Amino acid sequence: MPPVDSIPRLEQFVSRPNFWRRLQWYLDRTFYVRKRQFFGRTVYGSAPSLYHHWMYDTLAWKKMTWLGLPVQKSPCDLWNYQEIFHALEPALVIEFGTFQGGSAIFFASVLRAIGKPFRVLSVDVNPCMASDPDVDFLVASSIAPNVAATINKLKATFPGPIFAILDSDHTKEHVLAEMLSLRPILGRGDYLIVEDSNINGHPVLKSHGPGPYEAIQKYFQLYPNDYKRDAAREAKFGFTFAPQGFLIRN
Ligand SMILES: C[S@@+](CC[C@H](N)C(=O)[O-])C[C@H]1O[C@@H](n2cnc3c(N)ncnc32)[C@H](O)[C@@H]1O
Repeated sequence: MPPVDSIPRLEQFVSRPNFWRRLQWYLDRTFYVRKRQFFGRTVYGSAPSLYHHWMYDTLAWKKMTWLGLPVQKSPCDLWNYQEIFHALEPALVIEFGTFQGGSAIFFASVLRAIGKPFRVLSVDVNPCMASDPDVDFLVASSIAPNVAATINKLKATFPGPIFAILDSDHTKEHVLAEMLSLRPILGRGDYLIVEDSNINGHPVLKSHGPGPYEAIQKYFQLYPNDYKRDAAREAKFGFTFAPQGFLIRN
């Protein structure tokens, strides 16, 4: 038991220069907790979660471009995809939801830099004006039977690992149908990203209604052993637009 005299008195402690600033720094560093006024609301949360809200709610993600083309993603997720590509060296990338082609051309740019043969197939109900020598832009619904047929043909020409990314219609039913359509196509070690599982309150856009997150849950109820979650990748940059959506096929 230390002598009572040796226990510093609280007032002495508190009156030390910069005590409150140092305490704030310590709490910030230790807990990463902040309280902020945001669009008139008080928001509590960890710094990554608040940044997630900021990135989503300010639409900063809609202002992203790759080589001048819009890419509607979080930059942290794009960096993760680049790292996954380097590790996986996919021969085929399947993207559902092209928009203006920025993400498909991002994927092709990274794979060209890696230097192995590959093809990117990007599918959208709307035509895309962009073009790239290594990308096939297909105008179709992602769940149309001809899409699966096209993927199977490409698989034969570009055998090897597949990276698939779902970023089209974000309703639960549609995403679940996309996951089911890929079930016979993807094999062990292939990578599936289910984008925008952050909506419907996970943690953004609470008003959306059941979406990709709920589709993933339903898929895992149906087929619990199809995929394992790549939780380390999800956590790597503190937040992702695809929570629970980094999946590796068993
Ligand atoms: C969020 S955007 C895609 C963003 C793009 N991947 C990017 O990162 O820039 C969603 C796209 O899905 C398309 N889409 C909507 N329903 C679809 C469907 N059933 N099949 C394929 N694409 C669809 C829309 O036309 C839209 O271009």
